[in-house]
Amino acid sequence: MEDKIKQIKEEFKEKIKNKSLKELKELEIYFLGRKGKVSILFQFFKTVPKERRKHFGAKINELKSFIEKGISTEIQRAESIEASRKLEEEKIDVTLPGIKLHTGGLHILSQTISRAEDIFLSMGFDVMVGPEIEEDYYNFEALNIPEFHPARAMQDTFYLSKKILLRTQTSPIQVRIMEKYKPPIRIIAMGRCYRKDAPDSSHFPVFHQIEGLVIDKKVTFANLKGTLSLFAKRMFGEEVKVRFTPSYFPFVEPGAETSISCVICGGKGCSVCKNTGWLEMGGSGMVHPNVLKNVGIDPEIYQGFAFGWGMERIAMVKHKIPDIRMFYQNDLRFLKQFKG
Ligand code: PHE
Repeated sequence: MEDKIKQIKEEFKEKIKNKSLKELKELEIYFLGRKGKVSILFQFFKTVPKERRKHFGAKINELKSFIEKGISTEIQRAESIEASRKLEEEKIDVTLPGIKLHTGGLHILSQTISRAEDIFLSMGFDVMVGPEIEEDYYNFEALNIPEFHPARAMQDTFYLSKKILLRTQTSPIQVRIMEKYKPPIRIIAMGRCYRKDAPDSSHFPVFHQIEGLVIDKKVTFANLKGTLSLFAKRMFGEEVKVRFTPSYFPFVEPGAETSISCVICGGKGCSVCKNTGWLEMGGSGMVHPNVLKNVGIDPEIYQGFAFGWGMERIAMVKHKIPDIRMFYQNDLRFLKQFKG
């Protein structure tokens, strides 16, 4: 018996060396498990004479606690080795360069639209919207352009049905607003317009307009000039002048083509302004009495002015963009230059 105890102790001392956590758990079962080496000793114990039992009992218990202690110390050691190995493995190197996040930005056209909105808001205008799919009535009829009118030919456009089309201008919003609200009216409205234009450096089948409409008592052409001059100065710079040249739009009378002094050459003449010193921005004029009558506003009491400028044109002049198609090509080299 004595020898057996000694033998197990020696075996344990030998086996416990340099074991992994898993191996230690196996050893624990091997020695202390229900059918383990030490448990078997207890079976022998029964064969020991009574007077020796106390002695051997103490010996076996001593062996048992020796093995228990040995294993738990080794388990602790293996666990701490494992923990530091994990720590080492999962260490974060804070000096490594980070992952660059690519952020987007507003398209230059959206930026220009916001700028225009801000300017008109500061002048007391409200910002309105209207539908891009429009009725023939609003796009033409109510704007004093009856079916036979040659002005329609200039705006040859996309019809969805006989009476429904993609709007060719933002002017139909004028009518919708005047139908809905009573004067005084002071609004701008921006949005996409569509015309069957062949694309070139200054034409595209989709483009944006900014429409303005003011209706009140005693509104004059001077108010129109003042408003657009102030807008142009805020948008392009203090030195910019606005020029009005007589023009024809069926829904205004008098009507005018509006240009600004060339921001490239300052009006001296260059290739951008085709040596004229002026850049055309869009149409304007005093709202035609027929249009007011169409929406039930008495032209004897109320007058107003309206204008419609090309949004791309404004952005092109402001940022010296040579070709309208660039807005729609989605070329990152172009878009990145204006990342706001
Ligand atoms: N809607 C006209 C166009 O697209 C511009 C315009 C607007 C003219 C308002 C006069 C008044 O050409």
